[in-house]
Order: sequence, then C-alpha cells, then structure tokens
Amino acid sequence: MKLYLDTAQLEEVKEVASWGVLSGITTNPSHVAKAGVRDLRAHIQEICWQSDVPISVEVVSLEAEEMIAQGREYAAWSPNVVVKVPTVKAGLAATRQITTEPVTATCEGCAHIANCPIRERFAARNGLTRVPEVNATLIFSANQAMLALAAGASYVSPFVGRLDAVGEDGTKLVADIAQVLQAQKQPGEIIAAAMRHPLHVLEAAKAGAHIATMGYAIIAQMLQHPLTDQGLADFLADYERSRQQ
Ligand code: E4P
Repeated sequence: MKLYLDTAQLEEVKEVASWGVLSGITTNPSHVAKAGVRDLRAHIQEICWQSDVPISVEVVSLEAEEMIAQGREYAAWSPNVVVKVPTVKAGLAATRQITTEPVTATCEGCAHIANCPIRERFAARNGLTRVPEVNATLIFSANQAMLALAAGASYVSPFVGRLDAVGEDGTKLVADIAQVLQAQKQPGEIIAAAMRHPLHVLEAAKAGAHIATMGYAIIAQMLQHPLTDQGLADFLADYERSRQQ
C-alpha cells in the first residue's frame, strides 16, 4: 500500500519526502488554511518541487461550473496535480467534465520552471497535456464511491476516522469498496483517509486500500518502537567499545 501525507505544511512534506517513502500528498481547504497559505498556486508548485509526487488539490465551490473551472486551473499548475472533488451532485457532474477534457500543465508562475526535471520527465512521455485525474473526497458509503467512480474518478477517499468517530466502522467501508472494485474488475484506487492512528493504516492495508493518507504525526508513529531505539543504542555502544579495545 502506498503512503500519502495529508498536509499542506511544506516542512512536513520535505521531511517525509527525504525518508524515501512518500508516494503522494493530499491537501484540503482546512490544511491550506492551517498552513497560512496566501498564494495557493505558488504553494502547490513548491510542494510539487519538494516532493515530485501526485498532489490532490481540492475545489472550493458548491457549483459544478466553478468546480470545473477551478479543477482545470489547478491541473495547469503542475503535471502532478490531481483534482480533489467532493462527492455531491455538483461534484459528480464536475468530475465527469474534468475527466473528459485534456488540460496542459503549463506550470506558469512556478519558481522552478526553468530546466525543471519534473516537467522534462512528463514532457518526455507526452504527459504534460493529459486528462486530469480526480480524487473523490468526503466518501462515507460504498454507494458514494460507486457514483464517483461512475463519474470518472480515479481515486475514492473514504474518511475512516470520521466514520469511527460517529460509531460506524470506517475500515469496513474500505473493505466494502475494495470488494466492489474486485468483483467488478473495475479500475480505481482507494485512498483510506482521516487516519487517526497507525493501527488504522494497518487495518486499511489489510482491508484492501491502495493508499492511506495521514498526518505527519501518524507516519512518524508508524516508525516508532522503543525496542528499535534501545537496540540501536546498544549496537552503537557495543561498536564504540569494540573500537576502543
Ligand atoms: C483526505 O484527503 C482528507 O484531507 C483528510 O484525510 C481529512 O481528514 P481529517 O478528518 O483528518 O480532517
């Protein structure tokens, strides 16, 4: 299962990208507000430069036409942009349209556009002009996931922790969607979202999620084990002792 970071904080992106485990980033309007972002385009382009992975950027409208316009604008910012769309009627209509018409990633305004290896890589496989991918967000039922996929979404994001918080089983939703994809031999990837702890990530992987997206604290917790720290300290101390003999 691929691991995504759910954040708009540049420092977190840089840090986790440096570990070599980052397969993507999901942002949302709350993350963007929390990070104090003033210029969303410049910020997303900087995230792209620092991580070079797919980055979900969420539309902020209740109207399909506006969602489509925003989605197409985001998709022009970077070839790594995936358009994130809420799973409501207008969102389905927007998804259908966004995933029908090609958009060229011009990367206009990006501070790193000159000789950018990311752009060059996409250009080499004719990937700068592409039909944008959609990540259908705010999914709380398998029926919503089926609708989003029918509208053309490449990714569906069930919010596991938010379901658990109201007494429903978020991991079961991941398993249900995975079963639908398998039974129908249908393309589409499940992004298990709203992870609250490392056990959620493990459960999502076992339930068939293709991706889990999580905050920095959770991906850091996944790595933590006191026996690892103790074992490493012991090995280093023994090494030092043996050098002095
Ligand atoms: C996913 O793409 C969302 O950004 C995210 O997981 C929302 O989760 P939250 O409940 O932590 O805000």
